Parts: sequence; structure tokens; C-alpha cells
Amino acid sequence: MTRIMYAGFAALLLASCTNGETDRGRESAEATAEAEGETVTLAATPPMGFNTWNRFGCDVSETLVRGIADAMVDSGMREAGYEYVVIDDCWQVDRGPDGIIVPDPERFPSGMKAVADYVHERGLKFGLYTDAGPKTCEGRPGSLGYEEVDARTYADWGVDYVKVDWCHSDSLSAPVQYAKFREAFDATGRDMVLSICEWGRNLPWEWAGEIGQLWRTTADIRDNWDSVLWILEANNRHHEAAGPGHWNDPDMLEVGNGGMTVEEYRSHFSLWAMMAAPLIAGNDLRDMSDEIRDILTNEEVIAVDQDPLGVQGRIVLDRGYGAQVWAKPLADGSVAVALFNQRDSEMDGSVSWHEIGLEPGPALVRDLWTEEEFEHLDGGTIATRLRRKMPGHGVVMLRVTPIRD
Ligand code: GLA
Repeated sequence: MTRIMYAGFAALLLASCTNGETDRGRESAEATAEAEGETVTLAATPPMGFNTWNRFGCDVSETLVRGIADAMVDSGMREAGYEYVVIDDCWQVDRGPDGIIVPDPERFPSGMKAVADYVHERGLKFGLYTDAGPKTCEGRPGSLGYEEVDARTYADWGVDYVKVDWCHSDSLSAPVQYAKFREAFDATGRDMVLSICEWGRNLPWEWAGEIGQLWRTTADIRDNWDSVLWILEANNRHHEAAGPGHWNDPDMLEVGNGGMTVEEYRSHFSLWAMMAAPLIAGNDLRDMSDEIRDILTNEEVIAVDQDPLGVQGRIVLDRGYGAQVWAKPLADGSVAVALFNQRDSEMDGSVSWHEIGLEPGPALVRDLWTEEEFEHLDGGTIATRLRRKMPGHGVVMLRVTPIRD
């Protein structure tokens, strides 16, 4: 990867933004950096967007993508920072005589360039999916041997993000194959995020940060609570590998797909934000309840995910009976905290400052879901703890800001 970390001013700018402003802040920081000839870090904060797979599987079409792009704007998701609209598997059917990949003519009769244009016209970015092997997981043509042709085609169409899967690739070297995509993307001169999807099989946390902007750490998420619990444990192990421009990817969100309770979806979203995970919605944005939209667009929770310091939060304390404390240091010196209750029924949760890396002393504490805010003046000794009730399968998500003299 040839990109260089960009100057600190963009990070400072982002640090001072509320989330509604983050999107505009990001764009203006990018524009300024580019105008000054600096290299912009792709995905300086975890990518946010939508992907078709979790909800729609192979049932993809240009009608769907247009509807999702419109809904992303109308629902307030774009304003909240969601940016990429990504078509996953099944958009491709063949290769032409020139080797160029052919989109399904029935489902995408206008062609991919027109779909990308529609997405761009709404102030969003466009993404596609391919596979490093000869076929995708659903048996469509893969990119093996066509990495450069495909990169040029994507650039011609205006693609901004490419997810590269790993089906039918077991005999290949993942670092070698994924580096081919990176080189081919760079050769086009177009910024394209590379989303590496080999499910953590080849220890991507050790090498993928040099090649892609995000890499899956686990097998596929499912729309159930056990899946969320298992992915949390697995993704937490690799927290040290994450940082601006290179993120662990615990897979796309299931929020709103119907298999979990609202409380469980709130936990799923909160803990993905604590882990600085890419926030790629996977539900039908055209038809979501207010409760689900409120989860996906909570700007203070999103600000934790998008914090410019780029530290992946982690489990700092596992109390051993289904209660965990997660902490994520933030750029302004505060710490995001999630008190997490894995049990079915309500439990008392608590935290003291030394457990989350803070010096003893008073702090301003804000609950990011109830929006309650209070000063915790005696915080910081082992004996005095901040206590909160944790709902079953729920989190209490706090931002703790030390009050300095
Ligand atoms: C794999 C990936 C999924 C999705 C499907 C598509 O299972 O891990 O995220 O892209 O393939 O076939």
C-alpha cells in the first residue's frame, strides 16, 4: 500500500465535529488535503454504508440500489455519516470476449455506470463485490487472472469500494492475491477502498493493513444473538491491529433484520461502535421502524465509532458471570465505556476509573442512549464506583470525560 498518513489537521477538524458535521468535515478535509497535494488516507475512520447481502442475498437489482440510495438520504442515514452503497454477490453473470465482466442485463439493464452515477448524484459512494478466486461464493465469475481488467472496469464505472471474497481460493496465497488488487486499484488512479473478506483464515490482522482498508476477522454474521456474542469475542482478540486506514471487520450489521430484539440490536450496534468496526447496514433502509432508524443514526454512538484517534475499544474487564466492561479511548481525552450484560435478565453494572485507564478524579458522564448527563464527582477510587442497571442482553454506553481543574 503506497498511501501516506495525512496530516493531523484533518483529524483535529474531525475531533471537533459533531457527527452530523462529520461527513461534511471529512469531505472538506479530503478536498483541502488533495488541493494541497497531500495524500489522503482512505478510510481514515471506519467505512460506513450499506451492503445488500445480509437482507437481500442474490436478489439484487438496479431498482433496489436506487431505492436504497434514496432511502439513505431520506432516512437521515447519509447525514449521520453513511456513505457507501455496496452491491454484494450476484450482480455479475459472465465475461465478454474482451474479458470484461458483464452485469446481469435483466437486473441491471441500465448498466453499472448508470447505477454508480445515480448513487453519486445523491452525494454517496458506490461499491461492488468480487472474489479472488475463479468464482464467487454464489458461483458467479470471480476475478482470478482478471484483477487488472476488473480494476480498470470498476474505475471506469466510478466504483469507490470493492469487497473481495475468498471462495474457491484455498490453494492461493491471500497476501499475494489481495496485493494484486491493491496494485491494480492504485494503477487506475482512482481511490478505491479494498474490503478484504477471507474470514480471518490467513491471519489478515498480521498483513492486511498494508494492502486493504478493512479485513474480515470471522466467518459470516447471522441475525441472532449467539452470532453477535461469538463475533465480539473473536474480533476483540485483534484490537491492536486496527487504526486509521486499516480496520478489523467483524462483518456487516444485522440491525433491523428481525432476528433479534431491539435491545439486542442496540447492543450489537453499540459494541460494533466500541470496536471501531465498519458500520455497514444490512437491513432494508426503505422500510425500517423508527426504533431501528434511531439505533442506526445515533450520532453520539457513531461519533465513538468514527473517533479520529482510531483506537479499537476492547474488553478491559470480564467479570466472569456475563458482565463485561469495554473501553475505547477517544481523541479528546474522554473514554467511551460499554457496560455489557450478556445474561437474560437485568443486572447491576459498575465501573471505576482505574478499570478504564483514567486517573482518579471527577468526570462528566453522559449516557449515549438515554442522553442523560451528570457529574460524577467522587469517581476514581477503587471503592467508589459508578453503578448503572444493565438490561438483559443490553449495554449501558457512556462517554466519560475527566473534569480538569
Ligand atoms: C461470503 C461472504 C459474505 C457474502 C457472501 C456472498 O459468505 O463472507 O459476506 O459476501 O459470501 O456470496
